[in-house]
Amino acid sequence: MEDSPWWRDAVVYEIYVRSFADASGDGVGDLAGIRSRLPYLAALGVDAIWLTPFYPSPMADGGYDVADYRDVDPLFGSLADFDALVADAHAHGLRLMVDIVPNHSSSAHPWFQKALAAPRGSEERDRYMFRDVSDDARQEPNNWVSVFGGPAWTQVADGQWYLHLFAPEQPDFNWRNPEVRQEFLDILRFWLDRGIDGFRIDVAMGLIKAPGLPDTDPGFGAKSPIWSRPEVHDIYRDWRRVLDSYPGVRAAVGEVWTDSAEDLALYVRPDELHQSFNFAWLEAPWSATAFRKVIDETLRAVPAPTWVLSNHDVVRHTTRYGEGAPDPSVGLARGHAALLAMLALPGSAYLYQGEELGLPEVKNLPPEARQDPIFFRSKGEVLGRDGCRVPIPWSGTAPPYGFGTGGSWLPQPVEWAGLTAERQAADPSSTLAFYRRALAARRSLRETLPDAMAWLEAPGDALFFSRGRLICAINCGTDPVRLPPHEQVLISSGLVDGQDLPPDTAAWLLTVE
Ligand code: NOJ
Repeated sequence: MEDSPWWRDAVVYEIYVRSFADASGDGVGDLAGIRSRLPYLAALGVDAIWLTPFYPSPMADGGYDVADYRDVDPLFGSLADFDALVADAHAHGLRLMVDIVPNHSSSAHPWFQKALAAPRGSEERDRYMFRDVSDDARQEPNNWVSVFGGPAWTQVADGQWYLHLFAPEQPDFNWRNPEVRQEFLDILRFWLDRGIDGFRIDVAMGLIKAPGLPDTDPGFGAKSPIWSRPEVHDIYRDWRRVLDSYPGVRAAVGEVWTDSAEDLALYVRPDELHQSFNFAWLEAPWSATAFRKVIDETLRAVPAPTWVLSNHDVVRHTTRYGEGAPDPSVGLARGHAALLAMLALPGSAYLYQGEELGLPEVKNLPPEARQDPIFFRSKGEVLGRDGCRVPIPWSGTAPPYGFGTGGSWLPQPVEWAGLTAERQAADPSSTLAFYRRALAARRSLRETLPDAMAWLEAPGDALFFSRGRLICAINCGTDPVRLPPHEQVLISSGLVDGQDLPPDTAAWLLTVE
């Protein structure tokens, strides 16, 4: 829409840096690799890229364990590579967002090392969440468990415990400490000064814990002493002031897991974050009723919605949608249809690298190849997230499929020879060609689509909604449905004879003005 800031309807492409493209030949993706693939991203038709953490890190959690917030890990390049990437991305018309990880640092961060060396009660320990156990009857200070499994507390040499909502190598900061707050304001400025367009905020709902750290039940509910505490919003008000003090429009999107759209909406009040991820969309099963419920609840509560189907933490959606389906191709067909629905909705959409190639989750990685701490902390019971992080197949017929010259840090399946970007670019019936067409169609309508959408009556397990001249129809049922009256089929995810929409298919229709 006219005068609308870029983030409101942007299509943002998530780059999981380790797995995108490897220019240095060490088997791990890097910033120079991303630079070399910017023409591909521009041709795909996305508006912005979000880079997962590339900061110096021992990689206990793929870089979400940051040891220095103001540098680039040599594995990924240098600050000069970063600056060159920002300049090149902008020259390709792409905005660039970086991931900021404020809930915890790496245990290798100098502040945590100083905290370990300092005595209990010291200023150094107050930057993190150190506690004693006051009740002889218990082991840890409270019953909190790590998101990755196992207790959320680790004991240090002098008997104190520190909190880590994730791995022990990721100690939680104490966000009630003014020095921590100030440090992050400076870190934001460091990257904004280098010309970035925004931040993705890791675990945005976890920074403030309830006083006294009381025991908890699982879940993200309003009474949780861990998640979405009211005081967390003061932090984002401070951050917004910093973002707004820069020229242009610099945006922030929060990784916010909640159990209600109302709670999500609190993060995107006008003086807080611009956006938060809408994971309810990603979590919805393949069902018109479920999709409609999420869409209604989101649009009722959130003024600038976002939509996302996959990311580096969840099973890829082509695999999710195919679970239990008789034919493996169903997941891919549904993935295409869900993309059309998502791109037709008001707001912005986040894509995850590789979904434009229709990559499935890799479920059969050998145990010795796995790196996700979830796999190790659950003693292999939970496979974890490596299956959605397998490096991108770019070209050729054998691994590493043009990912680099030095293999790939996770093995790629042999079946991916048929899924390379090179091969799909030459095939108009490929997933890549479909994504390009869908993104181009969205761009062509962008200036004319109103913000509001309206439901139209739909038969069976289908949804029809309109935005101005555009009607999006998606069929989640098992029988074809009759399309509403229209002048033209702009794009469809499967064969449409002009009147009937097959199962597992979506279409964009144009009506007369
Ligand atoms: C969310 C990130 O997306 C995930 O990959 C990471 O493990 C956790 N936050 C902890 O930083």
